[in-house]
Amino acid sequence: MRPESVSADPRLQAATALARVEAHGAHAARLLGGAVPAERELVLGVLRWQLTLDHLLARHLRRPLGDHDPAVRAVLRVGLYEALRMRTPVPVAVAEAVRVAKRLAPRAAGLVNAVLRRASGERWPDPADSGTPAGIRFSHPEWLVERWRRLLGDEAALAALASDQEPAGLYLLSAASHCDDLTAAGCRLQPHPFVAGVVAVTAGTEAAVAALQAGRAYAIDPTAVAVARLLPPAAGLTVDLAAAPGGKSLVLACERRHPRLLSADRNLGRTVMMRRNLAAVAPAPAVAAADATAPPLRPGSCAAVLVDAPCSGTGTLRRHPEIRWRLRESDLGGLAAAQRRIVESAAALLAPGGFLLYATCSLEPEENAGVLDGVALEAVPTGPLLPAGLPRRDLPSGGAVIPPGALGDGFTVHLLRRPA
Ligand SMILES: C[S@@+](CC[C@H](N)C(=O)[O-])C[C@H]1O[C@@H](n2cnc3c(N)ncnc32)[C@H](O)[C@@H]1O
Repeated sequence: MRPESVSADPRLQAATALARVEAHGAHAARLLGGAVPAERELVLGVLRWQLTLDHLLARHLRRPLGDHDPAVRAVLRVGLYEALRMRTPVPVAVAEAVRVAKRLAPRAAGLVNAVLRRASGERWPDPADSGTPAGIRFSHPEWLVERWRRLLGDEAALAALASDQEPAGLYLLSAASHCDDLTAAGCRLQPHPFVAGVVAVTAGTEAAVAALQAGRAYAIDPTAVAVARLLPPAAGLTVDLAAAPGGKSLVLACERRHPRLLSADRNLGRTVMMRRNLAAVAPAPAVAAADATAPPLRPGSCAAVLVDAPCSGTGTLRRHPEIRWRLRESDLGGLAAAQRRIVESAAALLAPGGFLLYATCSLEPEENAGVLDGVALEAVPTGPLLPAGLPRRDLPSGGAVIPPGALGDGFTVHLLRRPA
C-alpha cells in the first residue's frame, strides 16, 4: 500500500506514472498496484484516449506535443481528460493541472494554463463521424486500425476499437474463488453468458479486490478460460510451456482432465508467483522454471502441450492500453521468430496422437497462423470447439480469432495434432 499522503494527490500521482510509462516503458498495471480509484481512472483513461487528447491539444500548441517533456505531456493530457471525459469543471481541471505542473515541470505552468483553457473548449470527436479518421475517434494508431479492418472486416474492427476504450470488467474463476464468502461480503456475482465457471463482479468490487489480495479468489479473463478448455483431456504428461502466472494451468488443474500437469515458465519471479497461485488446487500441478525452447523433457514424451506464447498483446488493449503506443508493426517479425522457436520445441515434445494448443492474446496473423506455417502437425478446426455465443472468426489455417470485447480479451487459437 502507498503512504496516505501520496495517494491523497491522485492527479500528481497519475501524471508522474504517465510520464514513467512514456519515458521509461513502465507497465501501467504494475505502477497502479495500490492506487486509489481516481488515479487509476486518470492513468488508464489518458492511456486509452491518448491520441484523441493529443489531437485536440495539438490545435493549441505552437511546438509539436512530442517536443515537450514527458511530464508536460502527461500534465496536459491529465488536465484535458479531466475536463472533457470526467466532466470536472474546466476551471478546476485547469487550476489542478497548473498546480501539478508547478511540481513536475515548473517552467511549463504558464503553457499548461494557456493551452488547457483553450483546448477544454474543444468538442470531443463523435465516434459515429466517419469523416474523422477511426484512429482519432477511437484512439488507436492508424496502422493497427488498418490491419484490424483487413483482418476482421470494417464492422467487427470498429467494434473491437470501441471496446478497447472501455474499462475492463473484473471476472473470477468460480472453482478457485470462495464465491459464497464473496457474496456474503457484498459482492454481486453474475455468471458469464458464454463461459461456464466464470463470474463477473458487478458490484462490491472492493470486497473482491480484498479477496484477491488474500488469495481467496482468482481473477481471470473469460476468453482465457475458454481457450484453456480447448486442450483435449490427456491421461499422459501435459505440459504448459509458458504458464506463468498460471491462469490457464489453474483452469486445467481445477477441471482435473490433465492429472499429470507440469507448469513451466522461463521467468523465475513469475514462476514463483505461479507456484503460489497453483498451490490451492489439489492436487497442485508440478511447477518448474524452464525455457520452452529447451524444455527438460524427452522428445515425444507429452500427451498434450499448451503454448500460451509471449506476444504483442493486441487482444488486451482494454487492460493494457499503453501497448498500442509502444508496439511497432515492425516488432511483429521478432515476436514471431521467438514464437516459432517455442512452437518447434513444443511440437517435438508431442507423442503420436498428442495435441498442441497454441494461443496468443494477439490478433496478428504473423504471431499466429504465420508461426505455425510448415509445422508438421495436423490442424484441428478450432472455432467449433469454442463456446457457442463467443464471437469468433474462423481462419483458413484451422484456428480462430476471438476479437476483444466487453465479455473478454481477444485471442487467436490453434489446436494441432501429431498424427498417430
Ligand atoms: C502470455 S504469458 C502466459 C500467461 C499464462 N499462460 C496464463 O494463462 O496465466 C507468456 C509467458 O511466457 C513466458 N515466456 C517468455 N518466453 C519464454 C520461454 N522462452 N520459455 C518459457 N516461457 C517463456 C513469460 O515469462 C510469460 O510468463
